[in-house]
Amino acid sequence: MRTRFTEIFGVEHPIVQGGMMWVGRAELVAAVAEAGALGFITALTQPTPEDLVREIERTRELTDKPFGVNLTILPSIDPPPYAEYRQAIIDSGVKIVETAGFNPADHLPHFKDAGIKVIHKCTSVRHAVKAERIGVDAVSIDGFECAGHPGEDDVPGLILIPAATSKLSIPVIASGGIADSRGLVAALALGADGVNMGTRFMCTVESPVAHEVKEQIVRNTELDTKLIFRTLRNTARVATNAVSEEVVEIESRGAEFGDIAHLVAGARGRKVFEDGELDAGIWTAGQSQGLIHDIPTVGELVDRMVAEAEAIITGRLNDIAGADRAVRA
Ligand SMILES: Cc1cc2nc3c(=O)[nH]c(=O)nc-3n(C[C@H](O)[C@H](O)[C@H](O)COP(=O)(O)O)c2cc1C
Repeated sequence: MRTRFTEIFGVEHPIVQGGMMWVGRAELVAAVAEAGALGFITALTQPTPEDLVREIERTRELTDKPFGVNLTILPSIDPPPYAEYRQAIIDSGVKIVETAGFNPADHLPHFKDAGIKVIHKCTSVRHAVKAERIGVDAVSIDGFECAGHPGEDDVPGLILIPAATSKLSIPVIASGGIADSRGLVAALALGADGVNMGTRFMCTVESPVAHEVKEQIVRNTELDTKLIFRTLRNTARVATNAVSEEVVEIESRGAEFGDIAHLVAGARGRKVFEDGELDAGIWTAGQSQGLIHDIPTVGELVDRMVAEAEAIITGRLNDIAGADRAVRA
């Protein structure tokens, strides 16, 4: 499968593993690269920029194929040293970056000067258009289905992706709710040049999260997510558990961040991923859980997606188009 995305970013398959806090580490990213897709180390999972440099080196020891780094720029009262993480990425010689969370305008010139290609991930057509205008190389657009931050517009991918591809001339990566070959083919039909998956890659052998989390994703259905921080206009889609249910309940009574801060602390979410204690805190997962029924290796997952996607295009879709021609003849 060749698209503008595979050509520009120099990868074999039009499949991306987007940044994932606590999950986007060397083991997973290298496995994704070895499978011919594009994986992103998540910069802020590393406690310091120096640790990020080491994580990039660790990834290079595991693969000589291309991979990137995600820099999530969330506005915050006490922000991490974004400029230092950015410099660590540049100094490490990484050539692909995924930005997300906020307008990347402050960071883009630095990446571009270093010859780095940038995919900006956003959740609306207007932000995608703005990102194209300031010079990113591609955009990844998260529909309402996605794990993590879907924005506040609640537009699902079936609308958002074609609405974006009609307005943009750079490649668009469809993101959110995609977990198998059907999603990949659908995204290509909607005009996208590739797909981005989070939850699906989190549920693979090489993903560095506790086995209990992967088994819970397999058990979960598309109904098993909660939208938290809605009332704060910073919505996040996370897995349903005792903690996310409590957060939603407190929010429904008109809470301020201070009322839920103890429940949503990052350290508690990290405990879920590290110790497999599913109710220890908030953990991110999308509606695509309903399409995930196994824990394959990354290689098996990517090979299967590509082979099945090609089979859908040359089989079912071709038959439909052929049947239509026969009817008209
Ligand atoms: C555990 C987890 C953590 C995530 N953390 C981040 C993050 O730190 N930065 C970011 O840009 N996206 C993050 N995401 C979003 C993914 O990169 C991707 O956009 C999203 O998962 C796509 O939706 P899907 O899960 O339905 O495939 C995270 C997703 C998951 C599942």
